[in-house]
Amino acid sequence: MMLAMIENNGPKQNAIVVRQVCKTFPQGTGRISALDGVTIDVAPGEFVAIMGASGSGKSTLLHLCAMLEKPDSGNIRIAGQTLENLSEKQAVEFRRRTVGVIFQQFNLIPSLTVEENILLPVRLAGHCGKPETDWSNELIDRLGLSTRRRNRPDALSGGEQQRTAIARALVMRPPVILADEPTGNLDSANAGHFWKLLAGVLPAVQATVLLVTHEPTAAMQARRVVVLRDGRAAGEFFVQDVQHATALAARYQELAH
Ligand SMILES: Nc1ncnc2c1ncn2[C@@H]1O[C@H](COP(=O)(O)OP(=O)(O)O)[C@@H](O)[C@H]1O
Ligand SMILES: [Mg+2]
Repeated sequence: MMLAMIENNGPKQNAIVVRQVCKTFPQGTGRISALDGVTIDVAPGEFVAIMGASGSGKSTLLHLCAMLEKPDSGNIRIAGQTLENLSEKQAVEFRRRTVGVIFQQFNLIPSLTVEENILLPVRLAGHCGKPETDWSNELIDRLGLSTRRRNRPDALSGGEQQRTAIARALVMRPPVILADEPTGNLDSANAGHFWKLLAGVLPAVQATVLLVTHEPTAAMQARRVVVLRDGRAAGEFFVQDVQHATALAARYQELAH
């Protein structure tokens, strides 16, 4: 009892703690290393952009944080939960409540409307009361989907589908948002609109954000950029220390190669 109280009153834990994580995948007769001892800390409410060349392990890192894959070794703690210790049942709850994921593939359910897709996580969690539908309606408004709520995904533009996916990721108010190149399937006009809308809704959820992106303008929204190289954290810098996106890109290039 006493211990629990001390822990609760102690210094704020980091929201994301990745320690010496390694992950390999089978390839041919051998294995390929995707992550090779990566260590990253993200403070509560911090927005961190992950950048790195193709194949540097960015998506693998996000998949491990979302518990979609397991590391070979090392530890990951998200919002105070050590992932390797979670039971199957706790893992289901973790994926449902603790992390909101936004991937390049929108992964919307084709037979459900925009509104039904957004509310699906709430329904699965078993409580869809007024506060939840109010929040869902607010997200639909803020993300410019009001006229689309009764449409199915195949009637939407790519930008609208991705905005539906943001709303679905935020509807449970998860403490951690994991986004993997969310504008990868959008044209540049829709991508620009996406970033504006995301920046508009994030303060309302006060989540910790880990965003994988190769777009310097998108990374400018973060507080810090962490660069992966060959499955390791090769370096990092604060966005306030670079003046503009071109300088950010140059700083990234120095660390990535
Ligand atoms: N499911 C998988 N099976 C086999 N190899 C994989 C798998 N996922 C990733 N890899 C390999 O791991 C490395 C890192 O991949 P990934 O994390 O997708 O990099 P990034 O997102 O930075 O482009 C790459 O060499 C990739 O081919
Ligand atoms: Mg990737």
